Amino acid sequence: MHKRQFIKNVLLAGIGTPIGIASFAKTFAGKNKVSAIKLASDNSFWDEIRNQYILKPDYINLENGYYNFLPQPLLNKFIDHIKEVNLQGSYYMRTVQFENKKKVTERLAGIAGCSSDELIITRNTTESLDMIIGGLDWKKGDEAIMAYQDYGAMLDMFEQVQNRYGVVRVMLSVPNHPKNDAEIVSLYQNAITEKTKVILVSHMINISGQILPIRKICDMAHAKGVQVIVDGAHAFAHIQYKIEDLHCDYYAAALHKWLSTPLGAGLLYVKKENIKKVWPLLADGEKDANKINRLNHTGTHPVHTDLTINDSIDYFEIIGAERKEARLRYLQNYWTEKVRNNPKIIVNTPADPSRSCAIANVGIVGIDPADLAKRLLKEHQVFTVAIDYANIRGCRICPNLYTTTTELDHFVEALTKLANG
Ligand SMILES: Cc1ncc(COP(=O)(O)O)c(C=O)c1O
Repeated sequence: MHKRQFIKNVLLAGIGTPIGIASFAKTFAGKNKVSAIKLASDNSFWDEIRNQYILKPDYINLENGYYNFLPQPLLNKFIDHIKEVNLQGSYYMRTVQFENKKKVTERLAGIAGCSSDELIITRNTTESLDMIIGGLDWKKGDEAIMAYQDYGAMLDMFEQVQNRYGVVRVMLSVPNHPKNDAEIVSLYQNAITEKTKVILVSHMINISGQILPIRKICDMAHAKGVQVIVDGAHAFAHIQYKIEDLHCDYYAAALHKWLSTPLGAGLLYVKKENIKKVWPLLADGEKDANKINRLNHTGTHPVHTDLTINDSIDYFEIIGAERKEARLRYLQNYWTEKVRNNPKIIVNTPADPSRSCAIANVGIVGIDPADLAKRLLKEHQVFTVAIDYANIRGCRICPNLYTTTTELDHFVEALTKLANG
């Protein structure tokens, strides 16, 4: 069979009639007695999710890290909210807009594991983190620790803070294959001086998928009087944790990534005692320095996105956080285990299952990451993204719950061919 036709068949095989949330909830509830680990390898069970997506038949999408586009039931809910807000217009904005946002924030706090008076809904992770980075009361000579593997927009914001206030950026590099948590914690610890004010750290490094020991880093930092800002863009609704258990000062995440909300939703957690330390990005009428609302002025924005967060939480809860994490980790291990021993293939993600989940990064000796991404797409119809900075050279491979092991088999075959060719 022609390769392109094969890809189309692989993709079309899973496309049934999208079912509504109610019947999908029934199927999932019916499996409540089966362990998440057992369900993780039950491919026919996960086909239920695949059936809810409309997928492009041109390529296998292994780049779900930028944005987790919506399954049909959530897309339909989003469209309903757009229609409703459009029908009500200013009436909606002037009556229940803020009450509804408050309700959604309360639900979000429930799954985030924090109090709703320490949480706000923002437009994205960048806005959340930049509000903290730009809004702290910096003094000339203050030091901020961050890693080359942190997200570019945050490093750029720290550069601006450096140029504006004379803050010193202290850069470190996180190893791709740490021996243990202590190695990571001491890396951050060794960078602290008496001038250190803040550590920025990624919960899950976006280019490699490595999960960092956040609570241990926070406890170490606090013992030295240093605050910790956590970039959880990729961790939220992907791996299980409660923000409060991490002991961090500030936590930001995207909702349009693993929670599958429409584009333009994020969260920001600010520990109660820190709220007064932050200058808001957009000033608000709330004058009580300890109220998180003072950090949540947005101007007029697409409120139908906020409303759909509620539906995305429903969807997430039906799937179950434990089941989701177990399936995503299963999918990553499924393909990485098949290539780790190939001397020409370099997996830039730790093998220890507690240090990664869905995301992994892979390179091939002698092939530039950009060429690898191009060839995977052109010759094998696999869409990924090339990463070529810090200590990571390869393509980021990011399956989602709709990804099948047949697709991953095809990817492994492609990778092996490219490595051996
Ligand atoms: C680690 C990390 N931080 C921040 C961001 C920015 O997220 P957002 O698009 O929600 O602003 C991303 C986006 O990919 C990311 O991977």
